[in-house]
Amino acid sequence: MKLIVLGGAGFIGSEFVNLSLKDEALEKVYVIDSLTYAGNLNNLDEASKDPKFDFLNEDIIRADDYLGKFPNDATLVNFAAESHVDNSINEPTKTIRTNVLGVAALLDAAMKFGMKKFIQVSTDEVYGPLETGEAEEDFPLRPSSPYSASKASADLLTLAYWHTYKYPVNVTRGANTFGKNQFPEKLIPLALKRLREGKKVPIYGTGLQTREWIHSTDHAGGILATVKNGVPGEVYNLGSGFRLTNLEVVQILCRKLGIESDEIEFVEDRKGHDSRYALNSSKAAKVLGWQAEMTFGQHFPDFESW
Ligand SMILES: NC(=O)c1ccc[n+]([C@@H]2O[C@H](COP(=O)([O-])OP(=O)(O)OC[C@H]3O[C@@H](n4cnc5c(N)ncnc54)[C@H](O)[C@@H]3O)[C@@H](O)[C@H]2O)c1
Repeated sequence: MKLIVLGGAGFIGSEFVNLSLKDEALEKVYVIDSLTYAGNLNNLDEASKDPKFDFLNEDIIRADDYLGKFPNDATLVNFAAESHVDNSINEPTKTIRTNVLGVAALLDAAMKFGMKKFIQVSTDEVYGPLETGEAEEDFPLRPSSPYSASKASADLLTLAYWHTYKYPVNVTRGANTFGKNQFPEKLIPLALKRLREGKKVPIYGTGLQTREWIHSTDHAGGILATVKNGVPGEVYNLGSGFRLTNLEVVQILCRKLGIESDEIEFVEDRKGHDSRYALNSSKAAKVLGWQAEMTFGQHFPDFESW
């Protein structure tokens, strides 16, 4: 197995690289990342010592210029994205450049150079808010933010390469992810940072927005299972079934840090904030033989170092 991991210096991408290096079937993993503010080579410290690892500092939008230099029996796994909803609200075109045009450039180059397969890493946010029930893979896409709309666009573009050209692709739609090395703009690392500094945690609106939480190791495992067992043209939800409101998340973190009171400051709600995400991940269990194992709260194995 040879892998080309785009955006592999980020939070989930680096976890995926580390996991793949433990896999006996791995021959080579090439990481390509343009090292934006969210990319960090320290996330790949251990991986970079492995002779199977290689790194290229490049932008996915320029894929046509360099992808042909890589072996074409490699599978591309694309994590590269502008991944923060708030940034997409403040600067939508920057998000669309990478998340839509970047993916278009990658798909084009991947097919042109005959790369084995293309996996697009996407998100449960593409389904938009669900008042009740769970989203299955064939649910309509109703994204709310420029971020989720850009991810939904990339999903559709990726699937079009299967429908139109029979180029083998998969899309994975993962739940909200927690674990070490997440950039401290996202809820959990931001909350931990502020609580450790003795500050209150800002929570949007009422804090009653519900999210499904999956550990980064589990999420990476689901993507690796997709590389190995994904049926071309198929989408797989990668969730845990474990759901909490943002308020509950921060309350748990307060207790974990031994803080008895809820150190929370309610701030004006995010524009277009989705109320609830929930995934049905039974297809991944059935087809990929994958299930999330680590639960929120009980499984903070490396919590102290986050
Ligand atoms: N974090 C979550 O909760 C979550 C949940 C579901 C899906 N996802 C998806 O998983 C993927 C990874 O998310 P993450 O949280 O690890 O993101 P991240 O922001 O931590 O990492 C993104 C990485 O992509 C790189 N990158 C950005 N633009 C690039 C470009 N134009 N060319 C090359 N590299 C570029 C960055 O340098 C960084 O290393 C994203 O596609 C995201 O949409 C994230």
